[in-house]
This record gives sequence, structure tokens and C-alpha cells, in this order.
Amino acid sequence: MANDAFGFQIVDQYYHQYYIEGEWQSPEFKSSSKINIAMSATSLHYGQQVFEGMKAFRRKDGQIQLFRPLENAKRFRMSCRRMMMPEISDDQFMYAVTETVKRNAKFLPEYDLLKSLYIRPFMIGIGHNLGLRPAPAYFFGVFVAPVGMYLKGDSAGKFLIVDDDRAAPNGTGQFKVGGNYGGAIKIQHDARNLGFEDVLFLDPATHTYLDEFGGANIFGIKENTYVTPFSSSILKSITNDTLKILAKDVFGLDVMETKIPLTDIETFDEIGACGTAASVTPIGSLTYQDKTYHISNEIGPITKKLKQLLLDIQYGNIKDDYGFQVYVTL
Ligand code: PLP
Ligand code: COI
Repeated sequence: MANDAFGFQIVDQYYHQYYIEGEWQSPEFKSSSKINIAMSATSLHYGQQVFEGMKAFRRKDGQIQLFRPLENAKRFRMSCRRMMMPEISDDQFMYAVTETVKRNAKFLPEYDLLKSLYIRPFMIGIGHNLGLRPAPAYFFGVFVAPVGMYLKGDSAGKFLIVDDDRAAPNGTGQFKVGGNYGGAIKIQHDARNLGFEDVLFLDPATHTYLDEFGGANIFGIKENTYVTPFSSSILKSITNDTLKILAKDVFGLDVMETKIPLTDIETFDEIGACGTAASVTPIGSLTYQDKTYHISNEIGPITKKLKQLLLDIQYGNIKDDYGFQVYVTL
């Protein structure tokens, strides 16, 4: 279940930047998150919007680290391109993110593996445009919020596999755009009312393969192999990419990205959800129609090791050899 601690408090310095007549204007930091936009803005009617989700972590020595932020910058650009929105350079993205974190550093909790500062960069079409065309003006904003864990952590909860889709087979599933999420709100809400933590979507073309959760990718462990779906309708998770690297390099697992038939669920020893908000969360059971697949009552040994290593890198307890850790110098 979305933890109350996720997004419990919005802070006080917000990054505002407008794109007008083909040019980015100088950015401003304001103490208000309010923006003024046209009623006919494309983001409000046609969902012309993109966003990112990332976190800043407080190390034991008090310093602040980001985790692979250039991957978010790259994915943000890809989402912008798909939505016909102006692209943002790595420098512009990094400036916006690091400055917003610095100015809100006091809201970043002390070192605690359950807490971090969530960062939400986003862009919306704001110019008047009733026709189905790209907007003439855009807003790029960044805000942060101290958060706990999005899912319940190591308690290996119940998840529901649904026949509703979050994205179309050749649609925008690979991109981080609001349209993939709006339609999922009711599906998740209904599942939570039935006692499930979140929903798992199937591949939208055939409904026979595992796709992903509402806000996280899925992975499974069997026969010394880390397995994760190959699908054109899921978000390319930076956390999942990291786990694939660590599984192979550090734990010597084979890594497979492949279509995973729903019926293969019972062949896995461990199944987990992974993402920025979800971190690494073990899956206790998956229910599809009238069948429940029980996986584990607690976090499995490999999921546990992967999670610990990921957290140790994110919180700077160990130095990584990959350049994943990026300091924010105050
Ligand atoms: N899948 C979806 C639908 C998501 O919203 C997220 C969260 O960003 C993820 C997967 C995980 O991606 P990442 O690890 O890059 O945060
Ligand atoms: C993230 O992990 O950053 C997400 O965007 C998931 C969101 C549904 C909270």
C-alpha cells in the first residue's frame, strides 16, 4: 500500500523555468509551488506532460548523494521527444535537480535507510492550444519531498494481477508520462480496497506475459538467474538496470531479459518489485483471477542481498566502482 510516509510533506523551495517562443527563460527559485497556466494548456486536456522520479540520500557523514541522475536526465529527454516537448540538456537537468536539493537540504532526513528526499522533475505544455498540436509554451519544474518507503518493505505483501492495461502495446508505456498513470489510479485504488498492496499489469497485447507494477518493474530469481521482463510497454527502470549489473558482477548470477509467461510465476524462488519509490520490495503472493501464487512469507536471500547492496551504494556506505554515486556539494 502506498505508505503514508510517501510524499508526506512538500518543502519550500521550488524550481520554476518557462520555455517561451522557442527559448528557455532563466530559471527561478520560489517559495511557492503555484503556477499560472492557460485553461487551454495542452497538459490539462491532452496530457502533454512528462516527469521523472529520483531520490537524494543522506550519508552517515551527513553528505548528500544522488543516484545515477544522468540516467534520469536521459530518460526525461526521451520522454520529451516522444511527447513533442522541448528537450533539456544534461547540464540544465542537473542544475535544476542539484540546486533544488541544495536549497531544500534541511528537509533531507538524517541517515536512515528507510528515508530519503524524493525529487520530482516534470514538464508540462502550458500554452493555449485547443487543437491537437504541441503547445507553444512549456513549464519545467522541480520539487522535492522527504519520503519513507512507497511499498511496505520486507513484509512480502499481496499483489493483484489485473486484466486492465496501463499502456498500449505500441503506446507510451516506455516513457514516463502522466497518461500511463492517470488510468491506473482507479485500478490501484480498487485493488488496495481489496487488501492488495499494488497491481501487476500483463503485456497489453496478449495478457499472457508479466509486464510491470503500477510504479515499479518486476524481477524474479530462479536457478541462479535474475529474470526480468522484455516488453515494449514497460518503463526502463534505472533501479532494475542497476540490479541486473549488481546481480551479474557482484553475485555472479546470470541475467535474463525475456518474456515471462504468467504461468512461470510458480517456477521462481523469489520475486521482487524494484523502482526509485519502491526500492527493492519482496512480493509475498500474486493473485490472478481465482488463483493465488504464494511466493514467500519474507524477503528471499538473493533479494535481500541485492537490496542491501543497492542501499549501501545509494547511501554511500560503500564506494561503488560504477560512478553511480553523485555528490551534491552544499
Ligand atoms: N515502472 C514504473 C511504471 C514506474 O513508475 C517506475 C518509477 O519510476 C519504475 C518502473 C521504476 O523506475 P526507476 O527504477 O527508474 O525509478
Ligand atoms: C518513482 O518511483 O519515481 C515513481 O514515479 C513511482 C510513482 C508511482 C510514485
